[in-house]
Amino acid sequence: MELDLKKLPTHVAIIMDGNGRWAKSRGLPRVYGHKKGAEVARNIIDKTCELGIPYLTLFAFSKENWQRPEHEIQVLFMLLEDYLNKELPEMQKKGIRFRGVGDIEEFPERLVKKIKEVEEKTKNNKNMTLCLALNYGGKQDILRAVRLIAEKVKSGELSPENISEEVFKKYLHTPDIPDPDLLIRTSGELRISNFYLFQLAYTELYFTPVFWPDFNEEEYIKALISYQQRERRFGKVND
Ligand code: FPP
Repeated sequence: MELDLKKLPTHVAIIMDGNGRWAKSRGLPRVYGHKKGAEVARNIIDKTCELGIPYLTLFAFSKENWQRPEHEIQVLFMLLEDYLNKELPEMQKKGIRFRGVGDIEEFPERLVKKIKEVEEKTKNNKNMTLCLALNYGGKQDILRAVRLIAEKVKSGELSPENISEEVFKKYLHTPDIPDPDLLIRTSGELRISNFYLFQLAYTELYFTPVFWPDFNEEEYIKALISYQQRERRFGKVND
């Protein structure tokens, strides 16, 4: 089966799982898995851009990840900062618009500044939008939207009967990002783990046992081909 370049998804979202287990299986500390995982993320971002897929979201730090050992959290922050520092020129060259998706303000100040700087400098790039889900949780995203909407109702700017799906979406962290067409999760776990919830309603799901540090171009193409073989009906009947 060959990849059909005319039938690519508009938005691919990825849960990059299995870094810790990959490292453990090699007798290495967990953080080595994250280090290799960040390199893999770079390759997959490049491949997505090369293929002409317009939106990619990588789940890089969840709300639940704060419960990890402090050292591991610090390494993840360091890898993110390093990524943003090194890749900014590449993003400009390749026309990649960067977006942090989540409650970013709770991150260390230096990282927040870097995220905002890269968002600002790349905001007019047109080839691809790279969303990094950072301090993100799907339930928290929905609750935040509900609170923002409640404020609008309270102040009389919005009436309850006008809260449509489109209006609701405007209050999520992803108001201007189309919902994912394909979700990939590595490492064999079969769950969504509080990633995009509202946004994944009609997304095709693809699970692979491969650990994220071993996920490569070939595995990515396999996932895309699997997506192309699906019949998406959105609740309708296809003749
Ligand atoms: C899940 O593996 C992975 C994470 C929690 C972090 C993902 C972050 C990166 C790949 C690095 C930063 C990314 C960029 C774009 C620079 P896990 O540790 O939960 O693995 P396990 O389930 O085997 O323990």
